[in-house]
Formats: sequence, structure tokens, C-alpha cells
Amino acid sequence: MIENEGAGADEAEATRRAAGDAESSRASRGWWDRNADEYQREHGGFLGDDRFVWGPEGLDEADARLLGPAGSLAGRDVLEIGCGAAQCSRWLAGQGARPVALDLSHRQLQHALRIGTGFPLVEADATALPFADGSFDLACSAYGAVPFVADPVRLMREVHRVLRPGGRWVFSVTHPLRWAFPDEPGPEGLSVAASYFDRTPYVEQDETGRAVYVEHHRTLGDRVRDVVAAGFRLTDLVEPEWPAWNTQEWGGWSPLRGHLIPGTAIFVCERDGR
Ligand SMILES: C[S@@+](CC[C@H](N)C(=O)[O-])C[C@H]1O[C@@H](n2cnc3c(N)ncnc32)[C@H](O)[C@@H]1O
Repeated sequence: MIENEGAGADEAEATRRAAGDAESSRASRGWWDRNADEYQREHGGFLGDDRFVWGPEGLDEADARLLGPAGSLAGRDVLEIGCGAAQCSRWLAGQGARPVALDLSHRQLQHALRIGTGFPLVEADATALPFADGSFDLACSAYGAVPFVADPVRLMREVHRVLRPGGRWVFSVTHPLRWAFPDEPGPEGLSVAASYFDRTPYVEQDETGRAVYVEHHRTLGDRVRDVVAAGFRLTDLVEPEWPAWNTQEWGGWSPLRGHLIPGTAIFVCERDGR
């Protein structure tokens, strides 16, 4: 999950400016390689080694069942995109599924290995998936690559290609509405500070102007159009509410804001059966 704070480079400056495919990809790889240790130290406990959590609200796939009803995952080939330490894939394996966990960051995958895997790990960019057409029954991503790529339709088309007919693609991202607010957990994060309609990427750059962290904003309508353009049917859009049990802050996600405005959007998409 995303944290717009601290680029991992000493003198990073936060700005909004254009960032293309190659620059976004290079920045993401570097940022996640540099920050994986701290990320796992800080958030590994909340994520759990073998839980499938969709976002900072703590919505658990064991309860939400967005990938399919209990018992339906056994024997299914599942691709997890932007897996980090592969916590979700570990939960999927526990359900009897056959996960393949993919990430751009070598260091994140080393954390997956450290925790343990009985399934394949693949180091690759989500916009060029190294799999044959029709390799998977399901694909999922909990705040994985989607927010970090400049061309989300390219990523979605790749997911569509590697899914079998009738396959399902479920992914979560920061709720687009959050882009209008400061990324602060307290009251200062409750006043609109930017246009929701400004799609200019959020970029942290070093003193030479080189991007070290990039996130891309799409409005809710853009995201719907992206999945449709890639050939999917959108069957649900889940906006998890902040539960009473969750008292933990995660960057700009907090109980205060979570009770008032959505923090995560989860898209449930299907590839047609033909
Ligand atoms: C916020 S983490 C999400 C991982 C896990 N679901 C979690 O909640 O910790 C985002 C992950 O996406 C990966 N990522 C970013 N851009 C990517 C890309 N273009 N292709 C594949 N993975 C990417 C990062 O390396 C990182 O591990």
C-alpha cells in the first residue's frame, strides 16, 4: 500500500509533473528496492504473513470473498500482481489455489522468500507479463502495480491476455477522491487542497530532477473506462468502510478520515467467457 511520504532519497522534492512509462517503472523499482525493508518492518504485522488484506481499512479477503466464494479457489491458477512480500499469495495457497506472485522489486521478493513460499515468484513489470495467453483463472492486486504505472490500460490488457475466458481480475487502489485532499491522517487531511480532476502524476524527484517515486492519479470514471477499454466487465466497485476495530494509522489513512471519506477502491472485473 502506498505512502506518499519519504522518497527514500535524502533530498527528494515532491511535485506534480508528467512521468512516462519508463521513468515511472524505474522510479518504482528503485523506491521499492530501497524501502522494502522499512515497509515490511512497519506494515508486516498489520498485513500478516498469510493474510489477504485489501487496504489500510483491513478488509480481509477471507471475509470479503471478492475472488470467489469459500471453497471455490482450490485448484485455481491465480496471478498476484505487485505482490510485495506475497502475503496475499500465501493466503491463496492456504485456500488450495496455485498462486504465482509477481513484483518489480527484487528486495520485496527477497522478503517473500524470507517469510517463505511454496509457489513461484516472478520478478517482472506488470505492463509486460512474462506468461502465455490464458495462463490464469484469476488475477489480483492489493495496491500492487496499478497506481504506479503511467499506462494502466496497457497493464489491464496484459492481465486480460493472461486470463482464461471467464477469468476474474480484482484490484485495489487508493480511492481516487483522496487525491483532492492532503495525504495527512489528521484534520488537515479533511480539507480539499487540489483538484480531483488534475491527473498530473505525483512525483518525488532528486536534486537532478530524476524521479525517485511516482504515483498516477485516475478519477473513478477513468478507472472504469480503463478496465472496459481492456475488455473487462466491471461487476462491482467496493469502497470499504473503516471498521471500529481498526485503530491503526497507515500514512494518510486514519480512523478519523476513514469514517468520513473513502480511502480504498476495489474493482471487481470479469473477462467474458468466450
Ligand atoms: C504497496 S505495495 C503492495 C504489495 C502488497 N499487496 C502489500 O499490501 O504490501 C506495491 C507493490 O507493487 C510493486 N510494483 C510497483 N510497480 C510495479 C510494476 N510496474 N510491476 C510490478 N510490480 C510493481 C512494488 O514493488 C510493491 O511491492
